[in-house]
Amino acid sequence: MEDRTVRKGIVLAGGTGSRLYPVTRSISKQLLPVYDKPMVYYPLSTLMLAGIRQILLISTPQDIGLFERLLGDGRQLGIEISYAIQPQPEGLPQALVIGRKFISDDNVALILGDNIFFGHGFQAMLVKAAQRPQGATIFSYVVKDPGRFGVVELDPAGQPVTLEEKPSAPRSNLAVTGLYFFDSRAVEIAASLTPSKRGETEILDVIRAYQSLGELSVQQLGRGFAWLDTGTLESLMLAGSFIQTIEQRQGLKIACIEEVAYQKGFITRDQLMTLSAPLNNEYGDYLRASASDGLSMRALSDKPRE
Ligand code: DAU
Repeated sequence: MEDRTVRKGIVLAGGTGSRLYPVTRSISKQLLPVYDKPMVYYPLSTLMLAGIRQILLISTPQDIGLFERLLGDGRQLGIEISYAIQPQPEGLPQALVIGRKFISDDNVALILGDNIFFGHGFQAMLVKAAQRPQGATIFSYVVKDPGRFGVVELDPAGQPVTLEEKPSAPRSNLAVTGLYFFDSRAVEIAASLTPSKRGETEILDVIRAYQSLGELSVQQLGRGFAWLDTGTLESLMLAGSFIQTIEQRQGLKIACIEEVAYQKGFITRDQLMTLSAPLNNEYGDYLRASASDGLSMRALSDKPRE
């Protein structure tokens, strides 16, 4: 059978960021620091952990150049990053339409540039989702305020029953996270959508199309996972403290894209050392340590070491 493994991913990092004004008046929200690295490192590392090396980053006309300055063409990380503009934030499905040429006939992952995931077994889950040849895979997470998100209701067998965007009376406490795996049909589905009452096309409409075909898989991220919110200044601060707490306790970094690139075999030890060279700080020290003692093996391995 033809190998349909997902090798392409889109990071959608646009929007006005108006909820965080004045902080985001002159800089993209997805470039704000989450403790020791820019927010976009987190979704980017998620795609890389899934084994994805061809990445399209979409942002606003005014911010796209900043992302390019930060990440370049990705070669230094052993990946390929290309860039596209979303002129107006007219809905998440637009990322698939803007990415039509990039996606071509392939399966694709889409991640929102402000979504932060962390947890044991996540890499294995991602790789599995990437290997599903057909259909869509989404990830749900228990939250105390589901009405702020897309919400999925599951039957006892774990099959999706309803999907609603920011419902006033949520039918479950399972939020739909901002990470989606689609087969190539998603582009046509996205292109056929009309805007909702909010004036945007809705990602849940794309997902519902797969549900009605019986081809939607919902993976539940359990209690051991963190799916962190950056939607308000408070949640952004909390996300930063969470990352700081874990990193300081373990001495291992979360979403260090240079380390992930090395561990995934995208770059060599020498290339990792080269990346660390200009960084005369703790981040650089960490990269040098990762290159020299394999400490990061423990960070990425989902299995306990002997
Ligand atoms: O984070 C998960 C949630 O993301 C899901 O549970 C919801 O189903 C999904 O609709 C989305 O909800 P949000 O309320 O977070 O959507 P928001 O409009 O804030 O957009 C999410 C991010 O994507 C935000 O950082 C801005 C960016 N964005 C948004 C739109 C609509 C774009 O880059 N372009 C866009 O057109």
